[in-house]
Amino acid sequence: MSATCNVVVLLSGTGSNLQALIDSTRTGDSPVRIRAVISNRADAYGLQRARDAGIDTRVLDHKAFEGREAFDAALIEQIDAFNPQLVVLAGFMRILSAGFVRHYQGRLFNIHPSLLPKYKGLHTHQRALEAGDTEHGCSVHFVTEELDGGPLVVQAVIPVELHDTPQSLAQRVHAREHQIYPMAVRWFAEGRLTLDDRGASLDGQLLAASGHLIRH
Ligand code: GRF
Repeated sequence: MSATCNVVVLLSGTGSNLQALIDSTRTGDSPVRIRAVISNRADAYGLQRARDAGIDTRVLDHKAFEGREAFDAALIEQIDAFNPQLVVLAGFMRILSAGFVRHYQGRLFNIHPSLLPKYKGLHTHQRALEAGDTEHGCSVHFVTEELDGGPLVVQAVIPVELHDTPQSLAQRVHAREHQIYPMAVRWFAEGRLTLDDRGASLDGQLLAASGHLIRH
């Protein structure tokens, strides 16, 4: 697919994954076009990164809405104004309603700092250390109605070192996030990645339950 793939990114914080996506589109041959960055927090540093890159930004404060459904409906309206083929969650700290997820079925990505299905939710690095895991990592997945569930696209696996702390692990996992997220987004933009009833496929081949695995 040579056409441009419009992407809208949702975030609530620092936006280092957004930065990795922005950097990956600067190669000249990238089919990915980040059309807008939307945050539920006006002070998210990710918005500044977007502005610096000349990308449209919007702020939609969830506190101004009565309930999740109303916020999500307004969010859909804002997102769809940019006509995205793909919506990317990059540290968006909101649980999304079933209606929102269904609206973007097959074109909504999330990144999570663990080897899913392990450690859904928060404090993933701490939990991996406490469990004595020898490997840890991060996952990109299609979003379904199950929190941090949904078919896996790609996982990066790193070894847990003897002296690792939650902070040191977080740092190394983050570095891998910055590699696999742009990779997955590009696959999608090139039309290589699809989702159907059987799961996620890359180049027409059904992916394993773990998604495409990248080690070390
Ligand atoms: C990442 O750790 C990601 O896995 C999680 O939220 C964090 C966002 O980090 N979903 P950043 O804002 O992209 O730096």
